[in-house]
Amino acid sequence: MVNTTESYAIHRDTDLDRPLRRDDFLIPADSAGKPIAYMAGNSLGLQPRSTEADIKDELDSWSHLAVRGHSHGEHPWMEFPSLLANSSAAVVGAMPHEIVMMNSLTINIHMLLASFYQPIDRRRKIVIEDYAFGSDSYAVRSHVAFRGGNPDKDVIRLKPRDGENYLRTEDIIAVLREHSSEIATVLLGAVNYYSGEFMDVAAITEVTHEIGAYAGWDLAHAAGNIPLHLHDWKVDFAAWCSYKYLNAGPGSVAGAYIHESHHKASLPRLEGWWTNKPETRFLMGPICDPLETADAWAVSNPPVLIMAPALTALRMFDQVGMHTLRARSLQLTSYMRDLITELDTDNRVSIITPADSNHHGAQLSIRVPRDPFPLIERMYSNHGVLGDARNPNIIRLAPAPMYNTFHDVWRAVSALFIELKD
Ligand SMILES: Cc1ncc(COP(=O)(O)O)c(C=O)c1O
Repeated sequence: MVNTTESYAIHRDTDLDRPLRRDDFLIPADSAGKPIAYMAGNSLGLQPRSTEADIKDELDSWSHLAVRGHSHGEHPWMEFPSLLANSSAAVVGAMPHEIVMMNSLTINIHMLLASFYQPIDRRRKIVIEDYAFGSDSYAVRSHVAFRGGNPDKDVIRLKPRDGENYLRTEDIIAVLREHSSEIATVLLGAVNYYSGEFMDVAAITEVTHEIGAYAGWDLAHAAGNIPLHLHDWKVDFAAWCSYKYLNAGPGSVAGAYIHESHHKASLPRLEGWWTNKPETRFLMGPICDPLETADAWAVSNPPVLIMAPALTALRMFDQVGMHTLRARSLQLTSYMRDLITELDTDNRVSIITPADSNHHGAQLSIRVPRDPFPLIERMYSNHGVLGDARNPNIIRLAPAPMYNTFHDVWRAVSALFIELKD
């Protein structure tokens, strides 16, 4: 039984349990000037204090060095892609040369499907979750249509069993085996945005390979949330945004990963001048001389002004380490689950996120007995608690271990039950 008092929550925020880097973030304040309990880091992470100065540095380089900024100054812009890849490597468990930061997430999914969706004869199906994030579903369907397929037939949409809220690994594997000769590509959310389920990436990737298909993962809700081992799991490709748990700022530069085994292979790819090796890039010949790393998927020159805040944010992950973050994240989220269970004396809510710590990240998705949108608004305006809502009846609360406290979690759960009372 968890202690439900506010004083216990405050007590847990002792030096030992202190949020890892709270003081390094700008926490929005409510109308009384009190920091809000921010539970929406799964949607947009908070701003690190040093972000503004780090962007300003690049603006200064631009104003003082102009085009020479590409190769001169404290941080020559040419070096940004490799700095970002180095810092991302530990976050997603990959080698730096398997990572390229570019574009935004959905664009990266498109760029990767251009390579990893190769429909041939009967093998033309793509597998996604039935309740995948809309953008992923549209991307997948558009690729099928682009190659002359039928999106209604060639996309397999995985559904949970009747009465269940998330997918069972064994059911996913059963579908893969059932359609083994027809599946070209599997693209799943490693952490589903709606249910908060963390999938068994290693097992699903392994079976995907057994049936002769490519395994790709959308890491939007997994990167910076749960330690990943993309290289060791032999994941073929992955993409993620950096504005959620990674705190790189709205619309900041996204990530793409391609396993090194595909770097020299003759996979088709959409190309541009940044696909070309730097040594021969400016020869501008008609035929590309491609890099043999993930950078070959970068088509354009690096967007430095959004890379600067990404670098600021990723360096914090380097410093803290994913395992330390995950340990604290599990404490915060299990405290939140225990509090909800304890305070829900008349079963008004149900948590749809798996309880098994191998199958969830920071976020809990909670089914509520009323329209979740006004509920979230009232939690914000009456209690200074900011979470978010999803149709038809889900609220999502995600304590981010970099900056959230146990007291934030207590405030969020108390606000929920106060607002559900009447
Ligand atoms: C799972 C998932 N996929 C794709 C996207 C789309 O991201 P973007 O707008 O950066 O393309 C999001 C955005 O929240 C997401 O959560």
